[in-house]
Parts: sequence; structure tokens; C-alpha cells
Amino acid sequence: MRRPRGLGGWDDDPLWGHFYDWSVEHRRVGGLLWRLGIQSDLQRLYDAAAEIGRQPAGARVLDIPCGGGVALRGLRPGQDVAYVAADIAQTMLDRTMRAAERRGLADQVVPRIADVGDLPFDDGSFDLVVSFTGLHCFPDPARAVVEMVRVLRPGGVLTGSALLNDSGLHHEPMRKAGRLAGLLGPGCTGTQLVSWLEAQRMADVVLDRSGAIGYFRATKRG
Ligand SMILES: C[S@@+](CC[C@H](N)C(=O)[O-])C[C@H]1O[C@@H](n2cnc3c(N)ncnc32)[C@H](O)[C@@H]1O
Repeated sequence: MRRPRGLGGWDDDPLWGHFYDWSVEHRRVGGLLWRLGIQSDLQRLYDAAAEIGRQPAGARVLDIPCGGGVALRGLRPGQDVAYVAADIAQTMLDRTMRAAERRGLADQVVPRIADVGDLPFDDGSFDLVVSFTGLHCFPDPARAVVEMVRVLRPGGVLTGSALLNDSGLHHEPMRKAGRLAGLLGPGCTGTQLVSWLEAQRMADVVLDRSGAIGYFRATKRG
């Protein structure tokens, strides 16, 4: 089914994506909307993205899916890391690169088309993989976890956030609308996410819930 331009899937540069990015960039109004809409604390996203800025010189970071580039808020201008921003949709990569330009980071970010289910990177090629509000958008989130862990080096960290299926019935209309619009995949519960990470032998698995969203972090065993 062809959706009206601007309202459809990620290739169509959906209006929802613009609204989402705007909400993240406007701490006060956006934070209020997050609180009211999904009972989530926007500060949690800022705190999680800040892990990028703590990476040492020479670190390799993969941001998948980069979407509109919200994770770039964690990257410091001039920070000496290799930052790959990957997404399946060229429209979203273009948005990330526009965000990088606005933040004075354009020469630090390498855009790359990639399907998270079959990442075009070698095993162990990244020190940090970040995946913010991504898992619920992927067609096969369990496969995405396998791939994101595969490209991490031993001792590397996978962190991110996802809209969880077990956050309560009051969030179900939003999840259903997202699937109808072609923006959301099947998603997962918090229990499933933790079990997928543990099945990949990830250590120190943490899942913190903030309203509809779960923030996860785990370390690849050496
Ligand atoms: C809600 S956006 C989140 C992006 C970004 N991390 C953020 O917080 O703004 C979801 C993104 O997932 C991307 N996406 C969906 N399926 C994908 C796949 N199989 N592989 C890679 N990216 C995918 C979409 O193109 C979209 O940019």
C-alpha cells in the first residue's frame, strides 16, 4: 500500500521522525511531551548518549539506526573517535548529516547505508554500539541484537533504548498506529530483550524502564 508522502515508512522521511527529533532537541517542551505522552524521562536519553562523549581517543563507535541523528548530541566537536552513522534509509542518513553539520561535527561522522539484520562490518570492529529507539522499528529485533553484538569487540559496550511491548496497555494504541504506518516492527518485551542479550553471552546486562521506553546496556565478554 502506497502511503501519502511524508506520512509513511522511513524511506519517505516521515513527519513523525521530524516531530521526534524536534522533541529531543527541545529539552523543556519536548521533555514535557515525553512525560505526558509516553511517561518517559527525556533526560535518560541524554544520559545514555553521553556515553559516546566519554569514549577515549581512537575508539570506534557505531550508531545504528542513526535516524535523524539524535545520538550526535553525545559526540563532542573534535573528539578523536571514528563515528559511523548507519541506517537502512538514505533519507535518514541525509538527516543525520544535516544534524552533524548543524552541530559542527560533519567531518567526524561517516554515513553508511546498512541493514541491522546483516551489518556490513567485520566481527569485533567497534568499541561502542549505540542503538537509540531502534529495536522496535526493526523487522527482526532478535537478529539485530545478534548482529550488533557480533560487530562489537570483546569488552565493548552495546547500549540504547527501545519502546517495549510490555510497558502497559495504555501504550498499545501508539504501538498499533506505528505498525500500521509502517514505522514500527514487532518489537519485544523487556524480558525478551534481556534474554536475547544474555543468549549472546553479554555481561552486566542492565535494563532500566522509563515509561514506554527501556534503556539497556551490556558488555561483550572478553
Ligand atoms: C525511530 S528512528 C530512530 C533513529 C535514531 N536512533 C533516533 O533516536 O532518532 C528508527 C530508524 O530505524 C531505521 N531502520 C528501520 N529498519 C532498519 C533496519 N533493518 N536496519 C537499519 N535501520 C533500520 C529507520 O530508517 C529509522 O531511521
